[in-house]
Amino acid sequence: MKLERLELEFDGPVARVWLNRPDVRNAFDGLMVTELRKTLFDLRAVDPVRVIVVGGRGASFCAGADLQWMKAMAGFTREENLREAQAMADLFFTVYESPKPVVARVHGAALGGGSGLVASCDIAVAALGTQFGFTEVRLGILPAVISPYVIGKVGESAARELFLTGERFEAVRAHEIGLIGAAVPEEDLDATVAGRVQELLNAGPRAIAEAKALIREVAFRRVEDVQRYTVEAIADVRISAEGQEGMRAFLEKRKPDWMP
Ligand code: COA
Repeated sequence: MKLERLELEFDGPVARVWLNRPDVRNAFDGLMVTELRKTLFDLRAVDPVRVIVVGGRGASFCAGADLQWMKAMAGFTREENLREAQAMADLFFTVYESPKPVVARVHGAALGGGSGLVASCDIAVAALGTQFGFTEVRLGILPAVISPYVIGKVGESAARELFLTGERFEAVRAHEIGLIGAAVPEEDLDATVAGRVQELLNAGPRAIAEAKALIREVAFRRVEDVQRYTVEAIADVRISAEGQEGMRAFLEKRKPDWMP
């Protein structure tokens, strides 16, 4: 697929996906949603790729939904509106359930769906001064399809305050509430992202995919309801080739075969 809204770079085991509509601060329109979802989906099958980094070209990471596009939806049928909302929901879910870890490299602004994209990623690192916000209520709309990912990261308390006020907040607060993993000076952003990527490359790729599935299965559920799943998950993974190699490597005091 020829990409109009994204740039894709490959660097050994790392794929970098750049949102590339800098004139509108990388706001999401239908084409960007389609391209991003398909790209993340297709990267599952690109064997050398083990980690995906998502960033934004130009001044900002992502200004959320394209408000021209959202506004135009008043002229769409309810069916069409549902289809577009479902496409957004599918995009965030594709990030969330990607078996390969997704790291957000955030700068400038991440607002509305941009903050939602950050929440759907596994790890996020932002430059100090980056503006975050669930600004939807200020526009008379809702942070609807992003809400499971945001509430999962920041909890109900911060979500109530931030969803209801729509106020903007900076990277330090985003870090305090757990939306991002680190807030660093802009000049250290790439090095910090590279450090997170390195940590991910040290882990078994199959184990990472299983750990992501484990979190999806266990989050928000009662211990009694997930205990059987957790028992089966460890029983299966410890006899897998990767599990056996990882434990053998530790005992033999060498690196496992997936480590760079
Ligand atoms: N949808 C459509 N266009 C957008 C946009 C969005 N979400 N966000 C920014 N743009 C456009 C602006 O209209 C402007 O267009 P113009 O050059 O034709 O005037 C252009 O992008 C640059 O925006 P500007 O505000 O001048 O840039 P900035 O760097 O000073 O500020 C933001 C960047 C992201 C902080 C600011 O644009 C903003 O607050 N945008 C709204 C974000 C928002 O609330 N999103 C939630 C959507 S649910």
